[in-house]
Amino acid sequence: MESEIRIKLLNAFTTHQDEYLSGQAIADLLGCSRTAVWKHIENLRKEGFEFEAVRRKGYRIVATPKKVIADEIRYGLKTNILGSHIHYEETVDSTQKVAHQLATDGASEGTIVVAEEQISGRGRMDRKWISPKYTGVWMSIILRPQLPPHRAPQLTLIAAVAVVQAIEEVTGLTAEIKWPNDVLINGKKITGILTEMQADADRIVSIIMGIGINVNQKLDDYPKEIQSIATSLSIEKKEEISRAQIIQSLLFKLEKLYQLYLQHGFQPIRILWESYAISIGKRIKARTLSGTITGKAIGITDEGILLLEDEAGVQHQIYSADIEL
Ligand code: BTN
Repeated sequence: MESEIRIKLLNAFTTHQDEYLSGQAIADLLGCSRTAVWKHIENLRKEGFEFEAVRRKGYRIVATPKKVIADEIRYGLKTNILGSHIHYEETVDSTQKVAHQLATDGASEGTIVVAEEQISGRGRMDRKWISPKYTGVWMSIILRPQLPPHRAPQLTLIAAVAVVQAIEEVTGLTAEIKWPNDVLINGKKITGILTEMQADADRIVSIIMGIGINVNQKLDDYPKEIQSIATSLSIEKKEEISRAQIIQSLLFKLEKLYQLYLQHGFQPIRILWESYAISIGKRIKARTLSGTITGKAIGITDEGILLLEDEAGVQHQIYSADIEL
């Protein structure tokens, strides 16, 4: 379907969710015949939209497809840069891999890669990220900040703040951050963030910000051993959540924070990040590649590095670790 007609039609239905739109009203809106309206609706049905048709009343939308089609993300997207190009795929190895390739081929800042399913989703520290079909937000965002490479970890922290704010806006649920990049609800992981970088010696060429949000998984969808540590928005909220809305809100929040960061540096982000963080001020265990350090998390530096004070009062700078509370 030509995309302009499609957008008009879907806009009309989604802004009149509970009302019937007559065939004639739609025909007037689209400037086409009633037969053409019927054809457009049939096309949408093939994509998974469901309509109820009632004689003398017209059509009403009753369900949108499970898929997060790119157009659904586009409507109502209030950003200027993020999501300006949407690269949508049904199945990929990893959206990170696709985004790296697009970035290498010159994709512009704000290009996003969204997939319904990842076969080899990647987590931090070489772990897997399970990404079943139609259940989550599996997305990678290409950024091109003009910054030196050592500032890249700050962008992970920006992403975590944006995720917390988006979850709050769309679902009303309160989420918290566990350094550096886990977002938890009621102590269980809801989101993982993996920030990767293409860089020269002294400047970032591109940042590939990978965000995985568990949205509509049911508890049974998780293996037993994961059920106590992972959750989804729908498990917590006890209703289905629109993945398109989560993406829209996330891109909007992220763009605002990214602009704030580019204009005013990391300080304002750090304040927000610390206000959402659960580990700060608490005794934690940090498992690093070179050993485990136990102590009190006292904050993060302006580079986004975790400061830990051990029993002897010695301060450690933690660049990468798994944190146990
Ligand atoms: C972690 O917590 O270990 C980070 C998980 C990051 C997962 C996301 S899903 C979208 C993007 N593509 C990937 O393969 N990984 C990231």
